[in-house]
Amino acid sequence: MKLLRLITSFKGNESLSFQLGNAIVEKIKTQHPEIDSTTRNLTKNEMPHLNELHFNSFMTPTQDLTAELKDAVSYSDEALKELLPADIVVIDVPMYNLSIPSSLKAWIDHIVRAGITFRYSEEGIEGLLKDKKVFLAIASGGIFSEGPLKEFDLTEKYLRNVLGFIGITDITVFRVEGTAMPQFKDEALPKALESVAAYSL
Ligand SMILES: Cc1cc2nc3c(=O)[nH]c(=O)nc-3n(C[C@H](O)[C@H](O)[C@H](O)COP(=O)(O)O)c2cc1C
Repeated sequence: MKLLRLITSFKGNESLSFQLGNAIVEKIKTQHPEIDSTTRNLTKNEMPHLNELHFNSFMTPTQDLTAELKDAVSYSDEALKELLPADIVVIDVPMYNLSIPSSLKAWIDHIVRAGITFRYSEEGIEGLLKDKKVFLAIASGGIFSEGPLKEFDLTEKYLRNVLGFIGITDITVFRVEGTAMPQFKDEALPKALESVAAYSL
């Protein structure tokens, strides 16, 4: 079995999404001690914003790639080399401005590729990554899993939609939330870690 971990907070060890992601990975390792894991820190090993060259490289058959297009497609190919064999993907998601970090969006723009992660068929669009399980470790200053801010959360909603688009529908979400709220902040991480401990894989 293979696991891919994506780190997307620039806060290093202080990051709450990172600490929650670590707990998820440790839990998975208790069930699958033999699991082979790869980690990509998208804040250190960044994917470039998708540009015209990248997109043209996706649309060009391999045998026709120029040196420039080969270079352009290398980011996507490298990310797919990590994603395609992974059975489980754990993604740390700090909420930035109600949404996901742009480093994660850039990664998504490089892995959503026609013919590789989805295809157009007679029935419409078909996601091709059907057998993967994803865990999201979402950290936010406010509380978004319930209450008045729920509808403003574009982290879980967007990730469920875009991952579903490429065929990944087995998605489990853990949250460390309310860390900017005095009445919730001290309990936020312990509560999130407890939810991981209580989860049966
Ligand atoms: C640039 C930036 C934007 C943020 N935007 C939001 C937001 O829209 N809503 C929210 O609840 N918290 C927001 N926060 C707070 C973070 O979500 C919170 O600090 C979280 O713990 C960050 O994850 P990390 O600890 O893994 O870095 C923001 C923090 C930063 C640095």
